[in-house]
Amino acid sequence: MRVLVTGGAGYIGSHTVLKLIEDGNEVVVLDNLVTGHKEAVNPQAKFYEGSVLDTNLVYDILTKEKIDAVIHFAAYLLVGESVEQPLKYYHNNVTGMINLLEAMQKANVKTLVFSSSAATYGVPEKLPLTEKSPTNPINPYGETKLMMEKIMRWTDSAYGIKSIALRYFNVAGASLDASIGEDHAPETHLVPNILLSAEKGDGKFTIFGDDYNTPDGTNVRDYVHVVDLASAHVLALHYLGKNRQSEIFNLGSAHGFSNLEILKSAIKVTGIDIPYTMGPRRPGDPDSLVADSTKARTILGWKPKYDNIDDIIASAWKFVQTHPHGYQN
Ligand code: UFG
Repeated sequence: MRVLVTGGAGYIGSHTVLKLIEDGNEVVVLDNLVTGHKEAVNPQAKFYEGSVLDTNLVYDILTKEKIDAVIHFAAYLLVGESVEQPLKYYHNNVTGMINLLEAMQKANVKTLVFSSSAATYGVPEKLPLTEKSPTNPINPYGETKLMMEKIMRWTDSAYGIKSIALRYFNVAGASLDASIGEDHAPETHLVPNILLSAEKGDGKFTIFGDDYNTPDGTNVRDYVHVVDLASAHVLALHYLGKNRQSEIFNLGSAHGFSNLEILKSAIKVTGIDIPYTMGPRRPGDPDSLVADSTKARTILGWKPKYDNIDDIIASAWKFVQTHPHGYQN
């Protein structure tokens, strides 16, 4: 299959590109490199630098490259930034999706896998979250992802563009050879921040709040290895190819770990006694997010291989140790 991956130079996008190639697909990447890294794109993929906001470019790539299916990652992703700059998120994420779907409709490409988020749920009424749980996002980032899913639903009924939205919970880890991994600037995510602090020995790691309604007072999240997440995208493509049925799937491990438990695991894995400061809450963080991924496991046949938290952190640690300055070295 010939697959266009938008945002294929990003963290999850680049791991999915690798999986698609291993699965025998021809891959074309479109990325504007605002947050992605050219070095993260597997050399076997054809690379276009550009934005999904450029409908003509997307249409040209779809037709010229004879694309069969699209996996859409290209979007802004920081919860905190979305609260401060909502229009940036609505413009890039929602308009990006509309442009992509317009180009797909025109080019007669009818298969889409979309990188959605657990942020679509907001504050859970009940855990674990299933795909039927209410969706009430509490930040513009989650709201844009939900709007993008809704747009997909109506373009399915109007134009027959079949799509799968994958709602990720928390993602960590790196490729098994540590050649690609997580490198955001600025880094805001928990696992890389703990490990970068361990690597630098700067004592700058802060936990955001210990007064949440959780057993140890710190937020609880559900972690998935990025390699397992990448596999789910390939399974989603196969599913759409066979079943032509639009769906939404949660991708998580069904195990919640508090921020303090993640820190403890990182101390164990690195052998470094990582100092930390207990800081105030970060706006927009729900107490706990834990996924019920039974649907993905049953319907897609998704079986995460790396579901031990120490293994996930060890994989992220290997990338930090080999890339202490990210892709810059
Ligand atoms: N945290 C810290 N210190 C840090 C960084 C994070 O204490 O330096 C805390 C956060 O406050 C939160 C937890 O670690 O309690 C996880 O935060 P991340 O920023 O790593 O991840 P989020 O849970 O905010 O968001 C991630 C993805 C979203 C997705 C969400 C769904 O970035 O896209 O998971 O669970 F929507």
